[in-house]
Amino acid sequence: MEEQEGRIVAMEEQAADDWQYSLRPRKIREYIGQEKAKENLSVFIKAALDRGEALDHVLLYGPPGLGKTTLAAIIANELGVNFRVTSGPAIENSRTLAEILTNLEKRDVLFIDEIHRLSRSIEEVLYSAMEDFALDIIIGKGPGARSIRLDIAPFTLVGATTRWGALAAPLRDRFGVPLRLEYYRPEALKEIIKRAAEILKIQIEDEGAAEIARRSRGTPRVANRLLKRVRDFAQVRGNGVITKPLADEALVRLEVDNAGLDRMDRRMLMTMIQKFAGGPVGLETLAAAISEETDTITDVYEPFLIQLGFLMRTPRGRVVTRTGYEHMKIPYPGAEGGGGYIPLFEGERV
Ligand SMILES: Nc1ncnc2c1ncn2[C@@H]1O[C@H](COP(=O)(O)OP(=O)(O)O)[C@@H](O)[C@H]1O
Ligand SMILES: [Mg+2]
Repeated sequence: MEEQEGRIVAMEEQAADDWQYSLRPRKIREYIGQEKAKENLSVFIKAALDRGEALDHVLLYGPPGLGKTTLAAIIANELGVNFRVTSGPAIENSRTLAEILTNLEKRDVLFIDEIHRLSRSIEEVLYSAMEDFALDIIIGKGPGARSIRLDIAPFTLVGATTRWGALAAPLRDRFGVPLRLEYYRPEALKEIIKRAAEILKIQIEDEGAAEIARRSRGTPRVANRLLKRVRDFAQVRGNGVITKPLADEALVRLEVDNAGLDRMDRRMLMTMIQKFAGGPVGLETLAAAISEETDTITDVYEPFLIQLGFLMRTPRGRVVTRTGYEHMKIPYPGAEGGGGYIPLFEGERV
């Protein structure tokens, strides 16, 4: 996915993003937005602490860059326990998983990122670990093989995924605390940007922060990245201070439009409009047409475009909405009142 590389709104963590670690809030009260998730979590954390027990397993799901990894680390920090990190693709076989599990200390947090990418056989090992804090291990081979049960420390599994639907139902059911992270409202993003600016010693005006916030796809990772790039403009073209006009100029140059769409989002909408008459178009077809992976479309582009109301998912495929056409400045082909309906008599409004 060459196009993803270096994209200003690229959702993946990139090697060049190391600086973002310093921006990670460590405490729940520093974590901005996501009020609902935070409130619930605070109650459960306090209850677990009061009882001296491991917190129930937590599943964090939502689009990339919304703060899942950050929140997982905060959970461990608030509980005052070790934070062990791994990911679905990194766990190659059940042996790797068994090693990780047997090394956990009481009440530790084990974070498995991209948990939807675990293989089914490994998922099954997790079931008894999550439910009974036990591992069933087969010793020996052939007729002499026997299974022994190994106890492990009571722990908290925090799983993160961009795709709720890709998780096997039995695995989903074993998470006592499923939390869905949502796109951030501009006010919350503005706060995140101002906090980051303070840490990175960037001078920014309130209106400048608001402008970047509005165009950050509701995503803190994107907000932080845009802030850094706009800062470069402020330094070279201005006097180092990020004002609203400066932010606007910089974002235009970075090809981030006023709704926060970048070149790839616009290309996807444009392709749907021009090659497929606005849809419905199937996922595979669309992916081929824009040379992008289907996962990237479903996890990255689509949720945001749907959130904005530019795109709709129908049983027959994706459709560009009237608002989507308007954003792209292309006349909506449907009749007034929508949906290609042909008025019965002149002037009829539907
Ligand atoms: N609620 C928040 N408040 C402040 N900064 C945040 C928040 N959520 C995420 N961030 C910032 O956004 C970046 C991406 O967050 P991350 O936890 O890596 O997202 P995810 O794991 O969901 O992809 C981090 O560098 C973090 O500093
Ligand atoms: Mg992450």
